[in-house]
Amino acid sequence: MKILVTGGAGFIGGNFIHDTLANYPDDTVICVDKLTYAGNMETLTPVMDNKNFFFEKADIADSVAIRAIFEKHHPDIVINFAAESHVDRSITDPGIFLKTNIIGTQVLLDASREFDVKRYHQVSTDEVYGDLPLDRPDLLFTEETPIHTSSPYSASKAGADLLCLAYIRTYKMPITISRCSNCYGPYHFPEKLIPLMLINAMQDKPLPVYGKGENVRDWLYVIDHCRAINLIVRNGTPGEIYNIGGHNERANIDVVKEILQQLGKPETLINYVTDRAGHDMRYGIDPTKINNELGWLPETKFEDGLKQTIKWFKENKKWWQNVLDGEYQKYYERNYGDRL
Ligand code: NAD
Ligand code: DAU
Repeated sequence: MKILVTGGAGFIGGNFIHDTLANYPDDTVICVDKLTYAGNMETLTPVMDNKNFFFEKADIADSVAIRAIFEKHHPDIVINFAAESHVDRSITDPGIFLKTNIIGTQVLLDASREFDVKRYHQVSTDEVYGDLPLDRPDLLFTEETPIHTSSPYSASKAGADLLCLAYIRTYKMPITISRCSNCYGPYHFPEKLIPLMLINAMQDKPLPVYGKGENVRDWLYVIDHCRAINLIVRNGTPGEIYNIGGHNERANIDVVKEILQQLGKPETLINYVTDRAGHDMRYGIDPTKINNELGWLPETKFEDGLKQTIKWFKENKKWWQNVLDGEYQKYYERNYGDRL
């Protein structure tokens, strides 16, 4: 099977490529990535010499480049991880989110249709459902929960999902969509909560917690997400949406305190800062469908996953130190300068 993976130099796509090449040795993986600030070729170093791996640098919104890549590789499966993925960046600069997340998806869908791919999979997010109240722990997102977005990021991801649904109905394309909750693990870009807090704490820098830190996220170890996607593209039903999550809801402040505790650092590093605009209160996934239909369950407990993640960041300083370059410093100043 030839699997074309977009966004494979990023966090989840990179982990997906490592895990797929290790567990499906008969498959070939072609990674297409534009290498934005979030794309890092060092994430792919462990697989660059694998004879079943190919890398193509391209923008998914560039229809000419994408068509040429499909012509060259003729993939059986296309999995679209590529996206602008950070909510805070979407608040300051929405345009690129619409271009990559919506137009990029349309370009990939058109190429998949022209080249008759057997499965197109859209990696979506629970953020398309909006948020849930803190005082109703009984409420969870199901696949039937209406789309109700909050940020330019989630609106762009919802736009891509709607396009996929339109292509399923209009062109009868074999498309699946997955909507996952917050992931964490190795190779996570340090603009996101867990790696940012980890790296700041390791350097004894302040930990910027938005608002009161009471917002809740439903955390899943990245490899559990990758395995769910592999199950969906191989055994899932075309035309279906699958939620992915492991009933692991935690308030941000508790996650931050757990990181400090595991690192042996003091809570005085916590710095409450101005809240994110439009900040979603709580996400909570109901994964009943993927569990019943495909037998998927998360394998990694949060405590273990966090330990593994901390170990990885301690052992891979070079990876994240290279990331903390000029662009990251400018972003940090832009996002946190007025808050701290
Ligand atoms: P990331 O920001 O770490 O990586 C994104 C990758 O896409 C990078 O390698 C980047 O270079 C590439 N990319 C960006 N624009 C591109 C373009 N125009 N053409 C080609 N490549 C481009 O993101 P991530 O956290 O790994 O998320 C991957 C996917 O999973 C996204 O679609 C995101 O919406 C979704 N998702 C993420 C999470 C999470 O917790 N991180 C949870 C649910 C869903
Ligand atoms: O739910 C899935 C989504 O999870 C994905 O679709 C997104 O791509 C991914 O970035 C993530 O979105 P969040 O906005 O939930 O993740 P982030 O790590 O940015 O923030 C997690 C929570 O932590 C959120 O409530 C905001 C808060 N936060 C974040 C940062 C970066 C802070 O309190 N301080 C911070 O500095």
